[in-house]
Amino acid sequence: MAFHRMLMQVIWVGVILSAIMAATATTFPLALPNCPDSCGNVKIPYPFGTTEGCYLNDTANIDDGYYFINCTTNAQGQPQPMIWNLNVTSISMELGEIDIQMYNSIDCYDEYGTLLSNNKPSLRVPGFTVSVTKNKFVAVGCDTYAYLNGILNDLPFSVGCLSVCNDTRSIVNGTCSGIGCCQIDFPRDLTDINFKAYSFKNHTQVWKFNPCSFAFIIQEDKFNFSPDYLISLRNNETLPMVLDWAIGAETCEVAQNTENYICGGNSNCIDLKNGSGYRCQCRDGYRGNPYLKAGCQDINECDVKEPNNCTSNQFCVNDVGSYHCSCLEGYYYHLDGQTCVPNQASPKLSLAISLTIGKLFSCSLANF
Ligand SMILES: *[C@@H]1O[C@H](CO)[C@@H](O)[C@H](O)[C@H]1NC(C)=O
Ligand SMILES: *[C@@H]1O[C@H](CO)[C@@H](O)[C@H](O)[C@H]1NC(C)=O
Ligand SMILES: *[C@@H]1O[C@H](CO)[C@@H](O)[C@H](O)[C@H]1NC(C)=O
Ligand SMILES: *[C@@H]1O[C@H](CO)[C@@H](O)[C@H](O)[C@H]1NC(C)=O
Ligand SMILES: *[C@@H]1O[C@H](CO)[C@@H](O)[C@H](O)[C@H]1NC(C)=O
Ligand SMILES: *[C@@H]1O[C@H](CO)[C@@H](O)[C@H](O)[C@H]1NC(C)=O
Ligand SMILES: *[C@@H]1O[C@H](CO)[C@@H](O)[C@H](O)[C@H]1NC(C)=O
Repeated sequence: MAFHRMLMQVIWVGVILSAIMAATATTFPLALPNCPDSCGNVKIPYPFGTTEGCYLNDTANIDDGYYFINCTTNAQGQPQPMIWNLNVTSISMELGEIDIQMYNSIDCYDEYGTLLSNNKPSLRVPGFTVSVTKNKFVAVGCDTYAYLNGILNDLPFSVGCLSVCNDTRSIVNGTCSGIGCCQIDFPRDLTDINFKAYSFKNHTQVWKFNPCSFAFIIQEDKFNFSPDYLISLRNNETLPMVLDWAIGAETCEVAQNTENYICGGNSNCIDLKNGSGYRCQCRDGYRGNPYLKAGCQDINECDVKEPNNCTSNQFCVNDVGSYHCSCLEGYYYHLDGQTCVPNQASPKLSLAISLTIGKLFSCSLANF
């Protein structure tokens, strides 16, 4: 009886241990110890942080407050993360991206062609660049042109596009192809950007279906042009846009020899383009926040949720940084050294063992 009880305890300890391991495998720390790791439903991974001492103070390169996220309260009383007075919707450690809501340039007229309002949004964010792979510069309107200005290699630079149309019939729903909507790529490493929408004829000939011109930088996969936008974008004060971020302004090679280098254990340093800093990435077999000292933690590949290559004749053994498969009891390695084949000598024995275990189990359950 004592033996049965012990067996049950061993089983329970096993169950609890694997539960704990499964839990730690999925919940690695994102922030520094004792620091908040979210604001509302937005995760805030280090080097970003919402309170003093919880974000990276990269004063060597950039003004204080570079990675500071202001966790404010919105009109509904909910937490709202902001950076430089723009809403933050998500931060990615893996991609080195931050999703924000950027202003829309809105240029509106009344039916007599009198200007009602316009604005010229700008963004000066040292250390951050507008993602060229994720965003497009877009202008919407039927009497419209727009400029995107910035600094490229220390020189002023402008790009733009225009769209003129007389009615909505020629507009293709779902395509921003130059009729009612034009879009362009813009160069990498553009900094100190600003942009503005303009009108050729104050919308006097198109006012009924399009009283405004619009210009914005938008996350491409969140923009699907619709003719409704000729009117409705007036209500979209801000639109989603993606920025790239990195650490410092040095290459990995230079940074690794300074005391400011922050990539943690079991991580690799990834170079960005010359002179625009570096990123950290957990090595294969590890997962977590590579910007923390012990942020990259071993992945338990044997966890049922993780993909591993073990077959049904094998069991999985987690190693640090990797895993291996071993033959189940009653199987041995075939000559190829990889597949597990039944132990021909003792099929009855293994059956007997499992029967015994089954019996022990049912008795102890009955006694429990
Ligand atoms: C955070 O934002 C609030 C509201 O916009 C502002 O009053 C406050 O000064 C900001 N805090 C910091 C540290 O910038
Ligand atoms: C930020 O988000 C809040 C909702 O949480 C919204 O009311 C506000 O208009 C947004 N502000 C900007 C600048 O996007
Ligand atoms: C358009 O509006 C601007 C500003 O209100 C005004 O100065 C200009 O004369 C107008 N142009 C036309 C063609 O109506
Ligand atoms: C657009 O419509 C206006 C008046 O409705 C007309 O005067 C003008 O010629 C039209 N333009 C084109 C290119 O069809
Ligand atoms: C454009 O297409 C979308 C869905 O694809 C639809 O919801 C919308 O009503 C369409 N707009 C017009 C003006 O046809
Ligand atoms: C504009 O705002 C509306 C309402 O909030 C939203 O449904 C729509 O997706 C926005 N348009 C774009 C292009 O993001
Ligand atoms: C990288 O930047 C440094 C300093 O700005 C410059 O001297 C070097 O030529 C650049 N290297 C490349 C490959 O652009």
